[in-house]
Amino acid sequence: MINHRGPEFAEIIDRMTANFKTILGTQGRAYFLTASGTGSMEAAIVNTLSAGDRVLSISIGSFGNRFGDIAEAYGAEVTRIEFEWGTAADPEKVRETLVSMPDCAAVIVTHNESSTGVMNPIADISKVVHAESDALILVDAVSSAAGVPLPMDDWGLDVVGTASQKSWVAPPGIAMVAMSDRAWKAHETSTIPKYYFDIDQYEKFLQIGQPPFTPALSVIYALDHSLQAIVAEGIEEVLTRHAARAQQTRDGAKRIGLELFPDASIASDTVTAIRVPEGIDGKSLVSRARDEYNVELGGGQEKLAGQIIRIGHMGWVQPEHIDESIDAVEKSLADLRA
Ligand SMILES: Cc1ncc(COP(=O)(O)O)c(C=O)c1O
Repeated sequence: MINHRGPEFAEIIDRMTANFKTILGTQGRAYFLTASGTGSMEAAIVNTLSAGDRVLSISIGSFGNRFGDIAEAYGAEVTRIEFEWGTAADPEKVRETLVSMPDCAAVIVTHNESSTGVMNPIADISKVVHAESDALILVDAVSSAAGVPLPMDDWGLDVVGTASQKSWVAPPGIAMVAMSDRAWKAHETSTIPKYYFDIDQYEKFLQIGQPPFTPALSVIYALDHSLQAIVAEGIEEVLTRHAARAQQTRDGAKRIGLELFPDASIASDTVTAIRVPEGIDGKSLVSRARDEYNVELGGGQEKLAGQIIRIGHMGWVQPEHIDESIDAVEKSLADLRA
């Protein structure tokens, strides 16, 4: 490990901040926190809101619910719109709710709902939010950023939170947060108690090329490398690669006679959710693929337990990985039916 208060670290954090901002298309501020993705969601809430603030939480699944729960835990007055799992948020419904909340301080929403394999129309939701209110828009982009288009400034997003272990091709341990000027202004008046995630400390220390606290240095090394690799490959190339792997996964599922869980028009480009066929136990399918074919599938979470399987294809995924996964699903299904 290196000294995180020395010149080498200063060089790394500078480069990482610049590359992260380039990839997200933002002129705003960016910070790296030692935490998992949920830390980026919590940082978004505690740095922009005050207890009693009205918040509109848009949820299409388990992670959307979590975002609402975090805001509630810190004393926000949360209005929740929940869409059926497997569907995307409807911007018109968001508009209807928002017009009845003139004092709404923030809209919180998941970009890519990993629990259902659905991608929300964030650009359209953001347009509605800006047209109808002064609310900030805080986005859980944990499983979307660097895998699907998310031009933060062009789409008018105020906080984007993501995590090293997803499309960023690094191990878990670093939460990444980008903030617009509007979010920074809100931060200046935010009164939610905070310490470890207080972005003020990260900003002050960033000025001298240091982190406020000891960071997960080993993950920082990996993430620095990945950010450079993404910029070198070109973000457009990276996104095209993700879209191709997603299409390959959807085509593969269809080829072996399976049905996607969401409609293809809203299906995620980083994780594909597939219905478990009638008469098959989803949990047995996941363990069969793991135990017999060495392929780790995701199962359904909460109310979808046993009903869907999920194939993740974010990050450095090659066509043969998808072929192998589809093949494992096909063989496991045949085994379970035998
Ligand atoms: C959309 C989304 N949000 C939040 C999280 C939580 O991230 P973590 O488990 O790193 O805290 C995940 C993790 O899978 C996710 O997919």
